[in-house]
Amino acid sequence: MSSLDAFALDTLVQLDAASLRRRLAATERRNGVMTRRAGRDLVSFSCNDYLGLSHDPRVIAAATEALARYGTGAGASRLVTGNHPPLIALEKRLAAHKGKEAALVFGSGYLANLGIVSGLVGAGDLILVDALGHSCLFAGAKLSGAETMRFRHNSLAHLATLLDKHRGKAQRAMILTERVFSMDGDRAPLDAILALAEAHDAWVLVDDAHGLGVIEPGTRAPLEMGTLSKTLGSYGGYLCASRPVIDLLTCRARSFIYTTGLPPASAAAALAALDIVEAEPERAARPLALARRFTARLGLPEAQSPIVPIVVGEVETALALSAALEARGFLVVAIRPPTVPPGTARLRIAFSAAHGEAQVDGLAEAVADLRPGVTP
Ligand SMILES: Cc1ncc(COP(=O)(O)O)c(C=O)c1O
Repeated sequence: MSSLDAFALDTLVQLDAASLRRRLAATERRNGVMTRRAGRDLVSFSCNDYLGLSHDPRVIAAATEALARYGTGAGASRLVTGNHPPLIALEKRLAAHKGKEAALVFGSGYLANLGIVSGLVGAGDLILVDALGHSCLFAGAKLSGAETMRFRHNSLAHLATLLDKHRGKAQRAMILTERVFSMDGDRAPLDAILALAEAHDAWVLVDDAHGLGVIEPGTRAPLEMGTLSKTLGSYGGYLCASRPVIDLLTCRARSFIYTTGLPPASAAAALAALDIVEAEPERAARPLALARRFTARLGLPEAQSPIVPIVVGEVETALALSAALEARGFLVVAIRPPTVPPGTARLRIAFSAAHGEAQVDGLAEAVADLRPGVTP
């Protein structure tokens, strides 16, 4: 056996032993919530399609039309010949939605964070990132070469201490956080972070992947990034910012420059979805209302977003709970380290406008039944 295969097999054995091996499961999403796995229909509480727009006929029609008109792919990077009309229209609309001068669409949210962070700061600069920030915020920080420190999750006191101590030595400073934390569902104290940042001349990047369209936006940060793949039901990432920042990143974000532009259908779908988000506020409010119905029924702290974690601690417990819910017809995927910190394996429940009240109540009953201590 080659040393490469031996390495792969050895590592897989270790992952298996810790119940941390990941496997792909064939999954057919049939609409906003119904999902088929291994021939069974399950009600999914694990999709980030918060408004069910990935299956909305208007969104599908917009994508289909773009597909027929502009073809399946962008054909080249944006700076060569990949800057097609749906992308230009989408950027204009995203900027207006966020109240910013301009926007830049990337291949994905992950690529956006790689390019934004490494395009704006580097060696000699300082990055302060919330300890529970998404993997791509840390990846962008690492790629940048700037000195990177984590501040305790949502701790203004720790952030202030780090700024007091280290800001003076750095040329530029950036603070990275999320509007809604992807695995915890809580929100960052953005107004206070923005005030601290201003006092220390630090630039705030807010990852709005899980906030766009489903959470009251509140104050905007100078750098508002997000994804087209969750509420907007499509694929791709974006940054909304001032015109000079967008123009600079168009020249400097390597994950934007050296990759093919988003397919026209993806951009057109996101644009149609954004129209619906703005036109139908009652739909946008529904996922949070359902999350709150669920937390109220189970006596959990009130949901701050459509994401509700049920932290169980051990990986095996989370896997067993997920399997038991699946046996009852609910798909709630267990989230394990390193996605979440060791000892905090959990079920991450995501609510969608496409869920019915009865489905939410059914899940609450099943969780209460399987997890004594969490009672309806
Ligand atoms: C907070 C956060 N940021 C960024 C991303 C990456 O976005 P994308 O899926 O578009 O790469 C995700 C999830 O995928 C996320 O949860």
